[in-house]
Amino acid sequence: MKKIGILTGGGDCPGLNPVIRAAVRKAYVSGIEVVGIKNGWKGLIENDTQPLDLDAVSGILPKGGTILGTSRTNPYKKEDWVKKAIENYKRLKLDALIAIGGEDTLGAANKLFKDGLNIVGVPKTIDNDLDQTDYTFGFDTAVNIATEAIDRLHTTAESHHRIMVVEVMGRHAGWIAVHAGIAGGADVVLIPEIPIDTDEVCGLLKKRHQRGKGFSIVVVAEGAKFKEGDMVVQEEKLDEFGHVRLGGIGQILGEVIEKKTGFETRVAVLGHIQRGGTPTAFDRVLGTKFGVKAVELALQGKFGYMVSLRGIDTTEVPIEKAITKLKTVDMKLYEMAKIFFG
Ligand code: F6P
Repeated sequence: MKKIGILTGGGDCPGLNPVIRAAVRKAYVSGIEVVGIKNGWKGLIENDTQPLDLDAVSGILPKGGTILGTSRTNPYKKEDWVKKAIENYKRLKLDALIAIGGEDTLGAANKLFKDGLNIVGVPKTIDNDLDQTDYTFGFDTAVNIATEAIDRLHTTAESHHRIMVVEVMGRHAGWIAVHAGIAGGADVVLIPEIPIDTDEVCGLLKKRHQRGKGFSIVVVAEGAKFKEGDMVVQEEKLDEFGHVRLGGIGQILGEVIEKKTGFETRVAVLGHIQRGGTPTAFDRVLGTKFGVKAVELALQGKFGYMVSLRGIDTTEVPIEKAITKLKTVDMKLYEMAKIFFG
């Protein structure tokens, strides 16, 4: 093993730089050269690279985002893109490629592995919805940001005797909503896994107000759906992996709550704030473990595998297994969260 490439694809995520740094450091002590592929699969298609030596990764541990840049480019969108990606992998004389990403990036990674490239996957997403790993880095940071936002919204909700609806990210899984909702003491948490019954939500809020609480916090995940209707989408346009852009449910929910309860309601959409800025210590450690493990897998020739966290240990699983289904919220956890509703 002489040379490996690293790329980051999909949405950026706190913890990507700790993974890159750790992989480069582990490669360095193993005598391997590292090349960074810029902007996800786009960089492999366009042969857009940068050397990754010790200097290049110095000081990046606390930095949010990714020093390599990212994109949602799908190499399988066009036939000549795949050809170019494979050609450039060979032109770069890579012995292995570490692909850091979520279900889309890893889906493409798995196809490229089947097409002959030596790929190792590293799971990344603030949504924590990747199967076969207990946690992905970025999730803890997003939950901490959302929790702090809920804490802040509590004081203004209480002062104004209002309901605050907080819309969080998470795509089709409610992990951020449930964890931030529990940590922030939300009065209702609504997730994509369970369609929203607005009468039930308003009933809980009225009950709370009747017992003398003049304010409430409602956390809603962007992918949640109303029992009565369709999922709210911001745009009809699909990205290259076929995903609609979610968002907007908070506003609609806020209007319904105000109408049905008569309580003054305001809405806060946290959006990309949850993805920006410095990773938490947990995500820095997890990213570091994943980066080191990815190079170890490459050294062992374990291609087509993804690093994974089980308990406190890193292990590996076939990428194929991790991308077959989404990891949605554990209903035992949601049932516990419900104890605190209303
Ligand atoms: O997958 C991470 C995520 O932040 C989701 O929670 C969200 O739905 C999506 O990405 C937003 O994507 P974009 O950055 O393309 O707007």
